[in-house]
Amino acid sequence: MKQQLEQIALAARAELSKISDQADLEALRIRFLGKKGELTAIMKGMAGLSAEERPVIGQLANRIRAEIEQEITERLAEIKAAASEAKLRAERLDVTLPGTAPKLGKIHPMDKVLHDIEDIFIGMGFDIAEGPEVEYDYYNFEALNLPPDHPARDTQDTFYVTDNVLLRTQTSSVQIHVMENKKPPIRIISPGRVYRSDPLDATHSPIFHQIECLVVDKGITMATLVGTLDMLLKRIYGEECKIRLRPHHFPFTEPSAEVDIVCFNCGGKGCSMCKGEGYVELLGAGMVHPKVLANCGIDPEVYSGFAFGLGLERMTMGKYGINDLRLLYENDLRFLGQF
Ligand code: PHE
Repeated sequence: MKQQLEQIALAARAELSKISDQADLEALRIRFLGKKGELTAIMKGMAGLSAEERPVIGQLANRIRAEIEQEITERLAEIKAAASEAKLRAERLDVTLPGTAPKLGKIHPMDKVLHDIEDIFIGMGFDIAEGPEVEYDYYNFEALNLPPDHPARDTQDTFYVTDNVLLRTQTSSVQIHVMENKKPPIRIISPGRVYRSDPLDATHSPIFHQIECLVVDKGITMATLVGTLDMLLKRIYGEECKIRLRPHHFPFTEPSAEVDIVCFNCGGKGCSMCKGEGYVELLGAGMVHPKVLANCGIDPEVYSGFAFGLGLERMTMGKYGINDLRLLYENDLRFLGQF
């Protein structure tokens, strides 16, 4: 029996040295020390021993059991340490590797043109005024000399909230807010979103952007208007840019003009973009109508003013040679990344 026990001890040690895995170690523990294990089986057979032999063998069996247990515990610690070591080695972080640069966005081409225009006007002492996009009929039409049933309302059909409240069709509504709240001298621009019930195509959108300009003071003339426009457009498009003024009608300016720029697509030869004209319409302008000044409590006998409203989309398309307005709204990064 003594021999058997010593053999078990030897066998257990030999197996232990080969094990490198926690599950195998547990299997080994069960095999030698478990309830149905080899050592237990021998100890069960001790009943048949003599009274002298029993304590000797018992002691030996207990010692061997304790030794095997001790060695299993030690081996387990070694296996765990090796595993965590291997894990650390596998997860090692090389802090000297170059990082992944985050993708940075870019300023939208319309914002670029807007910021340029704002800078030009701020440099001349203008303020930037804001007005509501949801507007009373009065500010969008009536105070601008467009009473109900005025035929010019047809060209600016819009979205109505109630009969009296609508989405503004033009930033000209801000002229009225500004003149109601401030006395001349007035020098403002007012950029913002405007709405018209136009279908979307290469040159129209039901939502687009305008920049309104209003100057009211003593001695403001058509020459001040043309000088300001000429300076603005040369700063945006370059010294060689050519504009023309065409007589036009707006109910809130008198005289009125439409301002065209030589077509940026064909350079004036005539193409589908300018419908063969050689020019594209850029903005509406004129001298503030005396009735509009009077509507806002400004004496038209003392003061005069000019106003213009330009389309930011058109300005941007002209500046960058974009031939379809829809590209500005689609947020396609392949397009936007070019500017
Ligand atoms: N509000 C006009 C439009 O949208 C443009 C304009 C502004 C004309 C100011 C004259 C003066 O067509």
